Amino acid sequence: MFMITVILSIKILNSDDCPITEHTVIRYVAKTPGRTAKPENASDHRLALLVPYRERFEELLEFVPYIHNFINRQHISHDIFILNQVDGYRFNRASLINVGYLQVKSSYDYIAMHDVDLLPLNDNLSYAFPKQPYHLAAPNLHPRYHYAKFIGGILLINREQFNLVDGLSNNYWGWGLEDDEFFVRLKEANLNITRPENITTGINNTFRHIHGKERKRDTVKCHNQREVTRKRDRKTGLHNIKYEVTSWKNMTIDDVPFTIINIKLDCDFNKTPWCNCTAKSNTVTNKNKETKSLK
Ligand SMILES: *[C@@H]1O[C@H](CO)[C@@H](O)[C@H](O)[C@H]1NC(C)=O
Ligand SMILES: *[C@@H]1O[C@H](CO)[C@@H](O)[C@H](O)[C@H]1NC(C)=O
Ligand SMILES: *[C@@H]1O[C@H](CO)[C@@H](O)[C@H](O)[C@H]1NC(C)=O
Ligand SMILES: *[C@@H]1O[C@H](CO)[C@@H](O)[C@H](O)[C@H]1NC(C)=O
Ligand SMILES: *[C@@H]1O[C@H](CO)[C@@H](O)[C@H](O)[C@H]1NC(C)=O
Ligand SMILES: *[C@@H]1O[C@H](CO)[C@@H](O)[C@H](O)[C@H]1NC(C)=O
Ligand SMILES: *[C@@H]1O[C@H](CO)[C@@H](O)[C@H](O)[C@H]1NC(C)=O
Repeated sequence: MFMITVILSIKILNSDDCPITEHTVIRYVAKTPGRTAKPENASDHRLALLVPYRERFEELLEFVPYIHNFINRQHISHDIFILNQVDGYRFNRASLINVGYLQVKSSYDYIAMHDVDLLPLNDNLSYAFPKQPYHLAAPNLHPRYHYAKFIGGILLINREQFNLVDGLSNNYWGWGLEDDEFFVRLKEANLNITRPENITTGINNTFRHIHGKERKRDTVKCHNQREVTRKRDRKTGLHNIKYEVTSWKNMTIDDVPFTIINIKLDCDFNKTPWCNCTAKSNTVTNKNKETKSLK
């Protein structure tokens, strides 16, 4: 399956003068604002792909053209936003998504919170407008995470519902648990997480995880991070995130347009001192390899 997909992808990129088939890239005429042209027969819904990012250039080169072609085959209006964290603090995936959302919400009615290193392989995985939060990278399909409450990787949610739960917590500096906290937000708001059905390709052939094994995850815990980040956060979210957008860059990879938003997050050391663990005395290494669900 994987090899077939690679071959198809290569074919897609070179198929300009082939007759149009299911897997041919269709080059559309722009009809709506935004960087990517509206596909023929697309609905009026508009998807913003929000991709938290820092220093993963090789993955970006692969991700942008791949995901654009995948979503175009479904005739969905979309634009890709790479949320590039340019401050010196630890990576904060959740806050980057909050910022990306605030920046683009006026022009899109749903978002995909999307890892840069997870590529969908099965065309049955739908990026269509979700009535309820739609977890594409379901535990029975994701190559690596299989716990029932997992909602990371790729999650689609509409604007109304993302607003309703006040976005994501801003407390999660470093790797992990922010998605588990978001799960609790959705549950408390009585939203029903939905997932793909009747996917026959299983955990090995539904996604390709392009995360290099050599890349170390930032799983350090310092100060009171461990206690605080295991609890539902009722204080932070969209309404009080502090940040600065330093620039927007319109770019293309293999002719596919996307936008980089350079983001400087602000950290309040009194509230989340673990945004910078350089003070070694308080630092302990997290021995647990995988995250556990929030209690
Ligand atoms: C990027 O592209 C969008 C849509 O075409 C346009 O509105 C915006 O002005 C562009 N931004 C820059 C910095 O060129
Ligand atoms: C768009 O819809 C029309 C009418 O249903 C159909 O003939 C056409 O093939 C569709 N185009 C694409 C690209 O699916
Ligand atoms: C993190 O803390 C170290 C040590 O105090 C300091 O040198 C560094 O500038 C801090 N980083 C940021 C982004 O504040
Ligand atoms: C979620 O599902 C429950 C039980 O089926 C239902 O009562 C509730 O209305 C649903 N919530 C939404 C937002 O549709
Ligand atoms: C999945 O398969 C079941 C049984 O065939 C069917 O009832 C259901 O509608 C299918 N779901 C989707 C989303 O196609
Ligand atoms: C895609 O969905 C259809 C309809 O539910 C199903 O018959 C088919 O087995 C699915 N294909 C894969 C590769 O999951
Ligand atoms: C997935 O791949 C692994 C490693 O090749 C294999 O051990 C496992 O049985 C496969 N799982 C399924 C469900 O095919």
